[in-house]
Amino acid sequence: MPDLLILGASSDIASACAHQYAAKGYQVWLAGRNMEALKKDAANLTIRYKLKAEAVYFDAADFASHKTFTTSLGFVPDVVIVAFGYLGDQQLAEHDWDETTRIINSNYTGAVSILNELANLMEKEKKGVIVGISSVAGIRGKKNNYIYGSAKAGFTTYLSGLRGRLVAAGVHVVTVLPGYVDTKMTAGMKLPSPLTAQPQLVAHDIYKAVASKKNIIYSKGLWRYVMLVFTSIPESIYKKLNIG
Ligand SMILES: NC(=O)c1ccc[n+]([C@@H]2O[C@H](COP(=O)([O-])OP(=O)(O)OC[C@H]3O[C@@H](n4cnc5c(N)ncnc54)[C@H](OP(=O)(O)O)[C@@H]3O)[C@@H](O)[C@H]2O)c1
Repeated sequence: MPDLLILGASSDIASACAHQYAAKGYQVWLAGRNMEALKKDAANLTIRYKLKAEAVYFDAADFASHKTFTTSLGFVPDVVIVAFGYLGDQQLAEHDWDETTRIINSNYTGAVSILNELANLMEKEKKGVIVGISSVAGIRGKKNNYIYGSAKAGFTTYLSGLRGRLVAAGVHVVTVLPGYVDTKMTAGMKLPSPLTAQPQLVAHDIYKAVASKKNIIYSKGLWRYVMLVFTSIPESIYKKLNIG
């Protein structure tokens, strides 16, 4: 049975991915901080899909633990999904360095730290797919979330370089660029429904992208065109816009 490792497994998108892959016969390893919730999720997956699902502790911001986390898994995953992330509070972060580092570590540094370890392992074994969930927010900075956006920009660039490095070893890297997704992260926000995906759609798009070895996907796909327009606005105009 192939193994799926999800990092940040209590995210709503991650949870939808766990069901998507379990339904296709994968053993699922749910890694995250909330062990009580993850153990329940693993038990539900085990019963529902009659497979092995397990919860393992993982904190993206505890960089020193990442080497041990990787070696103690005891296997090389067939698919790894990096799903953890933290939108944070931009206005707070402008005055509070702790909030700034939480945003950067949860969206960039933590991902680099764990993927450096996993990539070495997968490169050696010459197998596997790494999926990084980044964001369209990393494509162009917005005044209301540029700390989150710049961390995602760093992550997108990291994934691009990693893809180039690992291609020779037969390890594939998929960059996922969601637009708005209806999850805990966006709870309470007014999102335009034509541009908002449900987590199940993102999970389905990820599964399809892995199976067909896509490099970069937008979810919803419409975001590719939204971002084309967005990036074509001259900076002199863009800097004065109030974009939500
Ligand atoms: N929702 C959107 O509109 C949207 C749009 C574009 C991109 N994304 C990206 O998609 C991914 C999944 O988002 P989502 O909306 O499904 O998020 P979500 O439901 O809010 O979940 C985020 C998850 O990240 C985990 N996390 C945060 N910091 C962590 C750390 N240091 N170590 C381990 N886990 C950590 C949280 O774990 P705890 O439960 O332990 O706090 C939480 O389960 C994120 O990378 C997000 O940035 C989301």
